[in-house]
Amino acid sequence: MSSRIQVGIAGTGSYLPERVVPNAWFAEFLDTSDEWIAQRTGIRERRFAAEGQATSDLSAEAGRRALEMAGLEPEDLDLVIVGTLTPDYLLPSTACLVQDKLGAKNAGAFDCNAACTGFLTALHTAEAFVASGRAKRVLAIGAETLSRFIDKEERGSCILFGDGAGAAIVTSLEEAGRGEILRTKLGADGSGFDFIHMPGGGSAEPPTHESVEAGRHYIRLRGREVFRFAVSHMSELIQEMLEGRGEDELGLIVPHQVNKRIIDAALERIGMTEEKVVINIQNYANTSAATVPIALDEAVRQGRIEKGKLVVLVAFGAGLTWGASLLRW
Ligand SMILES: CC(C)(COP(=O)(O)OP(=O)(O)OC[C@H]1O[C@@H](n2cnc3c(N)ncnc32)[C@H](O)[C@@H]1OP(=O)(O)O)[C@@H](O)C(=O)NCCC(=O)NCCS
Repeated sequence: MSSRIQVGIAGTGSYLPERVVPNAWFAEFLDTSDEWIAQRTGIRERRFAAEGQATSDLSAEAGRRALEMAGLEPEDLDLVIVGTLTPDYLLPSTACLVQDKLGAKNAGAFDCNAACTGFLTALHTAEAFVASGRAKRVLAIGAETLSRFIDKEERGSCILFGDGAGAAIVTSLEEAGRGEILRTKLGADGSGFDFIHMPGGGSAEPPTHESVEAGRHYIRLRGREVFRFAVSHMSELIQEMLEGRGEDELGLIVPHQVNKRIIDAALERIGMTEEKVVINIQNYANTSAATVPIALDEAVRQGRIEKGKLVVLVAFGAGLTWGASLLRW
């Protein structure tokens, strides 16, 4: 077997749009309340992108911040991968727009759609490119403008989502000096495709006046079923990533911010406390592919990760998809 290059994370970055939308905003036009939303989800507020601000704009800003932390220039990138379910366009990819916005003129670019597992899918793909020597420096992004795809008449789903972007620069461990990617895992079960989906607008149900009128292009959820799937997958993936490792080796768990009750239930199942878990859902709600890289970036910038300790990234979502990474910081 040819030798595998060890891979690390040279820098992280994130960007949240300025507009803060508190729970009370929804109570102005829906039968809901700040209390219900906070108690059932842990969410207090979220950010919504400004008019004219698209997923590529959020992505490019997060990417710029990650490049800055890594001490690299856009020209140093070989590849840009964007994990998103809310691309600027169906065609071309958002990654191409980000490549142009950054001036990453030596980079290839493509998107991956694994919904809330989008960043982990981008990260694992980046890792495979760098480990095999096919690319030296890859920008992996998770970004969403979910505010454009929520049905504001559906109180069970529209309150859950927010906009934002997070990014990581993936390079050789030698260059990065930290964030070694030790283990990765991706999974899928397409038989659950309609647990979370947008029925209209694609080739299965092309957009028509009637479908748009009926809101078929908005996100539809089977919330209770997703809840059960999420708790079991989050707890199993964390256990799998930490198998064979001592409790004292763990620095931080960075879970998908889907619902505070889901995170609590998963931790309870595996007998863990919140102390080593990043939770920021109260500020940003569920930003799908962006939750994990935003939370990771905040933890890095707050100095929450001790050098040499293990970090677990874990996410799951529409598809159904799931993924996890074990890093040594
Ligand atoms: C959506 C979710 C918050 C709902 O919480 P829940 O505790 O399961 O609540 P239920 O769906 O059982 O609804 C309980 C009641 O609250 C009501 N309700 C739902 N949304 C409400 C809201 N925003 N405000 C007030 N009441 C609401 C329901 O209509 C229901 O009323 P009923 O008992 O009269 O029928 C929760 O299931 C969840 O987080 N699921 C996963 C979300 C998801 O799929 N995320 C994206 C994938 S990563």
